[in-house]
Amino acid sequence: MNTNLFAAVFTVVIGSVIWVGMNQNDPSWSGNMNTCTGECYEQWKEAHGGGIAALETAKQAALAAASPEALGENYYTGCVACHGANGAGGIGPQLEGQPGDDIVAKLTAYRAGETRGGQSAMMWPVAKPMTDDDIQNLAAYITTL
Ligand code: HEC
Repeated sequence: MNTNLFAAVFTVVIGSVIWVGMNQNDPSWSGNMNTCTGECYEQWKEAHGGGIAALETAKQAALAAASPEALGENYYTGCVACHGANGAGGIGPQLEGQPGDDIVAKLTAYRAGETRGGQSAMMWPVAKPMTDDDIQNLAAYITTL
């Protein structure tokens, strides 16, 4: 073994030993997590706060995605063909601009099989499977149009 190669191998071996030694004393080293509680955990959190903050953000995003408006928007994809993407109407009447209470009352009436206008039969099968929450969510979304 020539001296240069020996020196290189020596450096790597000693370097690794020192690196592992250093990191085991470092509370922020994840390999030490099992014993990292209390103050150690606080330090780890400070050092890795980004990860936790990102998780918080993802959680908030998931909650926001489950808002009535978002759920209503999702349900509204089944209404677009007749009422238009922006609720401007088409085959069905314009929904844009209608108060949420009116939307709720009208959908509830269709769900109950009531006749409102001359084409109510088109809305009966649409409204029949709706839950109260579906109707509230749709109203919440339609009022944002
Ligand atoms: C196949 C076409 C069609 C689809 C799909 C449809 N609608 Fe309708 N919608 C109509 C028609 C036609 C009317 C008018 C019915 C009448 O004469 O009472 C109507 C009426 C309504 C009304 C009452 C409007 C008013 O001012 O009188 C609401 C609210 C409504 N629809 C909401 C929805 C929602 C929400 C969806 C999706 C979940 C939906 N509709 C899907 C055709 C449709």
